[in-house]
Amino acid sequence: MKFDAIAPGIYPELTYPPYKSTVKRGPTQPMLRIDARTAAEQNIAPSPRIILPYDTDLTKHGEAEPLGEKIVVTGRIVDEDGKPVRNSLLEIWQCNAAGRYRHKKDQHNAPLDPNFNGWGKMMTDEEGRYRFVTIKPGPYPWANHDKAWRPAHIHFSLFGNVYAQRLVTQMYFPGDPLFDYDPIFQSIPDEAARQRLISRFSLEQTVGDEMLGYEFDIVLRGRDATPFGI
Ligand SMILES: [Fe+2]
Repeated sequence: MKFDAIAPGIYPELTYPPYKSTVKRGPTQPMLRIDARTAAEQNIAPSPRIILPYDTDLTKHGEAEPLGEKIVVTGRIVDEDGKPVRNSLLEIWQCNAAGRYRHKKDQHNAPLDPNFNGWGKMMTDEEGRYRFVTIKPGPYPWANHDKAWRPAHIHFSLFGNVYAQRLVTQMYFPGDPLFDYDPIFQSIPDEAARQRLISRFSLEQTVGDEMLGYEFDIVLRGRDATPFGI
């Protein structure tokens, strides 16, 4: 079963044996159509009021600066016609510079950083643009196979204009040597689509002596869509 009839190869295989957990959780039944009333109940727009101070600066969650390389990430969220997705909630989460998530299930033998939580949220502006400051995440092992290490990445959850439109994806960093060995990255069949998950370094977005800048644009649908479902 696939959900990419319009643009084949962009979205990951729902069952992709090299990515072991997809075999257990990949759907084996056809998709269900939800009724109009259920859809309407989920047709609720996130409110900008849920954005708190420092939600867009993950380096400000502790009493001191977190360890690691401070970076700024920005980009635009657009639909298939290039129109901005405005006033849209975007959530992000990531591990710290040592490759450890602040999560009870993360048993990676790497230190937590008392000054880094690894989550944030924001709304896109009138141009569909988002921007946040964080620490560059490290690679981490995930026990999928021998020497299984994830390329450094930031998880993105986009809510479109209502909660029911939620899409989840991952942003990567240019030049990562782990791309070729990562079954999650490789579960997207189309090479060009995989490349669209990689942010680009931006001197323009770099802030003086403070932090390097990365740009990551997201296209929601169509031939140039950013892969989702990873
Ligand atoms: Fe992750």
